[in-house]
Amino acid sequence: MFARNVARAFTTPSSRLFSSSSARHTKVTVLGAGGGIGQPLSLLLKLDPLVSNLSLYDIRGAPGVAADVSHVDTHSEVNGYAMENLDAALEGTKVVVIPAGVPRKPGMTRDDLFNTNASIVRDLAAAVARVAPTAHILVISNPVNSTVPIVAATLEKAGVFDPTRVYGVTTLDVVRASRFLASVSGATPSECDVPVVGGHSGPTIVPLLSQVSKGKGLQGEAYDTLVHRIQFGGDEVVKAKDGAGSATLSMAYAGAKFANSLLRGLNGEKGVITPTFVKSPLFADRGIDFFSSPVELGVNGVEKIHPIGPLSAEEEKLLEACLPELKKNIEKGKAFVA
Ligand code: NAD
Ligand code: LMR
Repeated sequence: MFARNVARAFTTPSSRLFSSSSARHTKVTVLGAGGGIGQPLSLLLKLDPLVSNLSLYDIRGAPGVAADVSHVDTHSEVNGYAMENLDAALEGTKVVVIPAGVPRKPGMTRDDLFNTNASIVRDLAAAVARVAPTAHILVISNPVNSTVPIVAATLEKAGVFDPTRVYGVTTLDVVRASRFLASVSGATPSECDVPVVGGHSGPTIVPLLSQVSKGKGLQGEAYDTLVHRIQFGGDEVVKAKDGAGSATLSMAYAGAKFANSLLRGLNGEKGVITPTFVKSPLFADRGIDFFSSPVELGVNGVEKIHPIGPLSAEEEKLLEACLPELKKNIEKGKAFVA
C-alpha cells in the first residue's frame, strides 16, 4: 500500500519526478545495477508506473539487488542477471540505462575516469547493438562528454546508430541548478527550471539563468558563485564523500526523472522537453556534433532539438569557454572507438 501511495504521489500532475499519461508500459534494463547509482535507480524505476519489466545487470551483485527490489509491491516484474548473462538481460528491452563504471575520488577530473570507463561503455554498447539494436540508450557513466560519442561510434560501427535514440544524462545539472537557484532566490525549485546546456563537466556545464525569471536579476558575485556551484556541484559531493565515490542518490533521482520523461515521450505524451546531451546540429559548424540543449522527446525518442535561445553577455562567455573543452572531450571519445 505504501509503495502504491508513493508511486501515486510521484505521479500527481505537480510531481517533479514521475508522471504517467498513458497505458503503454516498457521493459527497462539497468547496466551497472549493483552500484552506488544502480541500486537506488533500480528502486526508483520499480516505482515508475511506465516500467513493466525491470532487468538488472552488473558484473557483481545484480541478482541480489533484483531479489530485494522485486519485493516492492508495484506492478512491474524484476529480474537480475549475473555477469555471464548480459545478452539475456538485454533481450527485448526498449530502454537501457548505463551507470556502469568507476566514480571519481577527490582530486580527480571526470576525464581521469576515461581509461577505465571508455572500454566498459564501449563493450556494453556493442552488446546493446547486437541484442537490442533499436533500444534507447541513456548514458550516465562518466566522462559523459566522451562516453556518449563512444556509444554512438560503437553503434555506428555495428551499423545500428540512430541519433534519435542515444542520450547523455545531464539531468543532475538541471536538478542542481533548480535546487541551488531556489536556495539563493527563496523561490521553490519548481519556479526555477533553469535550462543547462553544453556538456557534463566543469566549464562545459552552461546554466542559462537569464532565461528564468528568478535567475535573470542575479549579478556580480552572487551570479558567479551560483554558476560555479552549478558547474562544480559534482566536486562538492566527491569532496564530502571523501574517497567513497561521487553523487549516487541525487543521480539516481535525476536518472529516474530523465527515464520517466523519455517513457512519457515514447508513450506519445506531447510537450516533454528536457535538456539532454545528444548528437546535435547546433554547433556542428564549430566541429562539435554532440551538445546538450532542451530536447523534445516523442514516440521515436529525440523529436526536436531546440536552439539554446538568447544569451546574456556572461552566458556568451560561458559558452565560449565550454565549446573548445567539449570538442576535445568528444574527439577523444570518437578516437577511442576509431
Ligand atoms: P559504483 O562503483 O558505485 O558502481 C558502478 C557499478 O558498475 C559497479 O556495481 C560495478 O560492478 C559496475 N560495473 C563495472 N563494470 C561493469 C560492466 N562491464 N558491466 C556492468 N556493470 C559494470 O559507481 P557509481 O557511483 O554508481 O557511478 C557510476 C558512474 O556514474 C561513474 O562513472 C560516475 O562518474 C558516473 N556518474 C555520472 C553522473 C552524471 O551526472 N551523468 C552522476 C554521478 C555519477
Ligand atoms: C556529478 O556531477 O555528480 C557526477 O558527474 C559525478 C562526478 O564525478 O562529479
